[in-house]
Amino acid sequence: MNRLILLSIIMLMPLCLAQDISVEKLLAYNKWSSQHQRVYLNEHEKLFRQMVFFENLQKVKEHNSNPNNTYSIGLNLFSDMTKQEFAEKILMKQDLVDHYMKSISQKETHNDVNIETQLNSKNLTLATSIDWRTQGAVTSVKYQGNCGSCWSFAGAALMESFNFIQNKVLVDFSEQQLVDCVISANGYQSEGCNGGFSFETLDYASKVGITTLDNYPYVEVQKKCNMTGTNNGFKPKQWIQVPSTSNDLKHALNFSPVSVYVNAYNWVSYQSGIYNGSDQSNIVFNHEVLAVGYDEQGNWIVKNSWGPFWGEHGYMRLAPNNTCGILNHIYQVTA
Ligand SMILES: *[C@@H]1O[C@H](CO)[C@@H](O)[C@H](O)[C@H]1NC(C)=O
Ligand SMILES: *[C@@H]1O[C@H](CO)[C@@H](O)[C@H](O)[C@H]1NC(C)=O
Ligand SMILES: *[C@@H]1O[C@H](CO)[C@@H](O)[C@H](O)[C@H]1NC(C)=O
Ligand SMILES: *[C@@H]1O[C@H](CO)[C@@H](O)[C@H](O)[C@H]1NC(C)=O
Ligand SMILES: *[C@@H]1O[C@H](CO)[C@@H](O)[C@H](O)[C@H]1NC(C)=O
Repeated sequence: MNRLILLSIIMLMPLCLAQDISVEKLLAYNKWSSQHQRVYLNEHEKLFRQMVFFENLQKVKEHNSNPNNTYSIGLNLFSDMTKQEFAEKILMKQDLVDHYMKSISQKETHNDVNIETQLNSKNLTLATSIDWRTQGAVTSVKYQGNCGSCWSFAGAALMESFNFIQNKVLVDFSEQQLVDCVISANGYQSEGCNGGFSFETLDYASKVGITTLDNYPYVEVQKKCNMTGTNNGFKPKQWIQVPSTSNDLKHALNFSPVSVYVNAYNWVSYQSGIYNGSDQSNIVFNHEVLAVGYDEQGNWIVKNSWGPFWGEHGYMRLAPNNTCGILNHIYQVTA
């Protein structure tokens, strides 16, 4: 008799524990899903999303309880997605980027300037830190949605900041125009929501101009190119690829924000702090963002296009040197 009671208590204990945890998790899920206004196809999908959410919640707890980590992760708009889904829906198709990057070498640079000479001839003393946001040179953080169009956001952001530095006006430019018009029919390799190249957006805008966000709003899918009125827009005249060293990136950032290609596979739940979580032995490129500065410790400050509720109000700090491949493909508008 006694043995039986003991046995059932022992057998029930893990069940109680499991239930406690799942109540706690369920509350967390309900809170998160009401914040994020999730609508699912059916009960099956809802159950699947809950499971994915629970796993992501667990990862957040484990990561944040390790005091060795220099950055924290958290729940955000992606918390019911698997990493595979996140890569497919939000990041660029990696093979598209890798393939084209390898095939072009230096041809994306414009007007054939000697980059090193151009940067070094300024004989600039590097600022110990720089942040273009404090100078009003960076527009608000945007949201690319379920579309691998980061390259159009990086391209528009490059031109927005250069336009500010040159003409002293800060205007939001149209990413949708770039997604719709920087296409193979116009001689480009960019592919809308699959991915693309900010330097192609510069080439395109130099010819026909980039119009404002107000004139040509963002809709998260690729549409037919609409050229009505774009010719009055901003036209960059010259741009360069910046050499792949920390010193050159710092140099470039002393003149203006620049666009950078990165491996963002592990960025999904980044919340704050100095990020160093990428696999440095396997640098691949699936995302493009705007670098807006660096701090006194040499951490890079980048503006992302996943909305203001991701990361540090839409921004991220990356550890010094080539974290996530930030030094490999850097572009800057120079005139
Ligand atoms: C933190 O780092 C120290 C030193 O490298 C290591 O001994 C310790 O196990 C780490 N702690 C955790 C929780 O990983
Ligand atoms: C660059 O700056 C350094 C220190 O300010 C100065 O000594 C040097 O002459 C400058 N070089 C050129 C080419 O202007
Ligand atoms: C094209 O852009 C113009 C100017 O913004 C707008 O008036 C027009 O409705 C657009 N056409 C289409 C098909 O979206
Ligand atoms: C990130 O930095 C922390 C603290 O210095 C270190 O423990 C960790 O191994 C680093 N992670 C990577 C992937 O380099
Ligand atoms: C990374 O950058 C820091 C300072 O910015 C430097 O001291 C360190 O040597 C660099 N590490 C590597 C591996 O290049």
